[in-house]
Amino acid sequence: MKFENLYRRDYGKLKQIVKFDGVRKVGWRSPSNIALIKYWGKRDFQLPQNPSLSFALSKSFTETTIQYYFKSKNGISLDFTFEGNKNELFEKRVNGYLNSILDFFPFLNFLHLKIESKNSFPHSSGIASSASAMSALALCLVSIENDLFGTLKNKKFFFEKASFIARLGSGSAARSVYGGYSVWGKHPNISGSDDELAIPFGIEVHPKFQNLQNAILITSSESKKVSSSKGHQLMEGHSYANARYEQAGNNMTSIVKALQSGDEENFIEIVENEALSLHALMMASKMGFTLLNENTWRIIDWIRHYREEKNVFLTFTLDAGPNVHVLYKQADKSKIEKALRSDLIRFCENDKWIDDQLGSGPSLIT
Ligand code: DP6
Repeated sequence: MKFENLYRRDYGKLKQIVKFDGVRKVGWRSPSNIALIKYWGKRDFQLPQNPSLSFALSKSFTETTIQYYFKSKNGISLDFTFEGNKNELFEKRVNGYLNSILDFFPFLNFLHLKIESKNSFPHSSGIASSASAMSALALCLVSIENDLFGTLKNKKFFFEKASFIARLGSGSAARSVYGGYSVWGKHPNISGSDDELAIPFGIEVHPKFQNLQNAILITSSESKKVSSSKGHQLMEGHSYANARYEQAGNNMTSIVKALQSGDEENFIEIVENEALSLHALMMASKMGFTLLNENTWRIIDWIRHYREEKNVFLTFTLDAGPNVHVLYKQADKSKIEKALRSDLIRFCENDKWIDDQLGSGPSLIT
């Protein structure tokens, strides 16, 4: 556990809090991300069973600010508001999370934190918020460390530690600390890739895939009947587990090539295979279940027909839920959007969809 040991070693250095007067403040806006190669199944504590690859979204993000001041009494202490309101459930969760990462941030024992968080997307829109929320929080925490001790001045180290800390809150959040494409989990063809933290993709992506558009079609905003955590757990002892981890590794090998060469056909094949395999795993797990609904399937059918008929680059992926992420190129935006409005909106709950795209990653709120 290379990074865990490295970050734990900070302990000695950080034990002594630099006492300061007054209140300081930090804030980060951090995006959600959409995985093309899916993380599904963990081992040990928050380590992935296979490598995953995603791109950062642009308009779906969380903004978190932390005001912090020195207190002499030892122990985690915080107030948490979500979208302007005190939220005790979230506060309890954040409290548990902060306690669990004290070995990496011992100085938190001596600070009171006033955390304010809000999302750009409605809470009940069916968009997974754990990636943006946990990455925004993790970025604030590494910023506080750097502010107090100057230990993370190196940009690469800063974001690596943010990714490591975000991962401990939610696996997919590890990938949200970077813009563009990022990879979490060791893969032989991606140098520097690691199970403990995500890294930027680092390989030149063909221009075709540099400005991907992502229309998120909300077919249902109901909360999931089976959580992602439960879904990951169901991979333990799953009859397809080993085959799945091998498939993910092979799909990663292929998508790296497709992203580099601009091979659209292969890209589509891999991305749809990953999305449908994720949901097939759920159906084939103990007490099999599906999160997909009939409108998810109608949209998928429509996408495949339209692509065939118009010979255009158009594909989809799915999160752990029934909403469809429609992927297409910026150059086709007006055409696709028109078709989407006329043919697909009717499958969305209250006509709800989010016009998102590949984004440039987190930014500091000043
Ligand atoms: C289907 O990151 O939400 O979106 O680590 O338990 O918080 P936890 O799980 P989470 O799982 C995301 C699963 C996924 C695929 C992906 O984003 O890679």
